Amino acid sequence: MRRLVGSRIVVTGASRGIGRALAEALGDEGAALVLTATTVEHIAPVAESLGAEALALDLRDSESIQSAASAAARLGRVDVLVNNAGLLGVRAPLSDYPMDVWRDVMSVSVDGTLEFTQALLPSVADGGAIINVTSGAAGRPSWGAYGVSRLAINGLTQMLRAELVDRDIRCVAINPGGVRTEMRAAAYPDEDPLTVPDPKERLEPFVAVAAGEDPGWFVEAKDWSS
Ligand SMILES: NC(=O)c1ccc[n+]([C@@H]2O[C@H](COP(=O)([O-])OP(=O)(O)OC[C@H]3O[C@@H](n4cnc5c(N)ncnc54)[C@H](OP(=O)(O)O)[C@@H]3O)[C@@H](O)[C@H]2O)c1
Repeated sequence: MRRLVGSRIVVTGASRGIGRALAEALGDEGAALVLTATTVEHIAPVAESLGAEALALDLRDSESIQSAASAAARLGRVDVLVNNAGLLGVRAPLSDYPMDVWRDVMSVSVDGTLEFTQALLPSVADGGAIINVTSGAAGRPSWGAYGVSRLAINGLTQMLRAELVDRDIRCVAINPGGVRTEMRAAAYPDEDPLTVPDPKERLEPFVAVAAGEDPGWFVEAKDWSS
């Protein structure tokens, strides 16, 4: 039985990598999908192949955030929001971290993610879910803005979860673990990508939470069993 028939799910950063694989998995389970990337050109081919709605969303840009949230709201109630889009920046210690890169990473991965969540929240159904993609690099030395942005995502998840308890909205941060994507290749340029799992292998907790499970605020995808 398909678990997400009748659900509408918004996935940010679905043009490639984890977001694209997740969109495919959610679509296979019957979800109606609203997919975003920084431009319509980036997301249209994926959306077309899945029969999904495509929206431009640049998380650096408040106007783009408000306009994407309004467009998503016009499509109807949102059952699940997956905040997947994020930036790596550069791997460097905080003492030397380039501040222009810092601001870029934070504006997309923290400020923009919160602003899009705020803008979409009125359309999120009571009893729905907000899934934030986090990372094992949260707080890891020499991962700079990325490490701090993932700590912030963990904090946002815990706080939103407590604040939205009356609406029964499950806020869950899921760490997919290292998976084969462009971001992973940029973070580990010397690694053979074929030694890293395909994102498809780490998607079951995302589908389960979207379908109604509540595992608590944090999930390590590689340890998931249901
Ligand atoms: N890969 C891993 O091993 C790994 C491990 C743990 C956690 N994660 C997390 O998983 C998530 C996805 O990672 P990934 O490896 O799939 O990354 P990716 O391949 O680099 O894909 C990033 C996605 O984010 C979108 N994006 C980039 N800048 C954006 C912006 N300014 N506004 C809105 N969207 C933007 C991209 O859209 P465009 O095509 O328009 O650029 C793309 O769809 C990230 O949050 C990452 O931190 C990844």
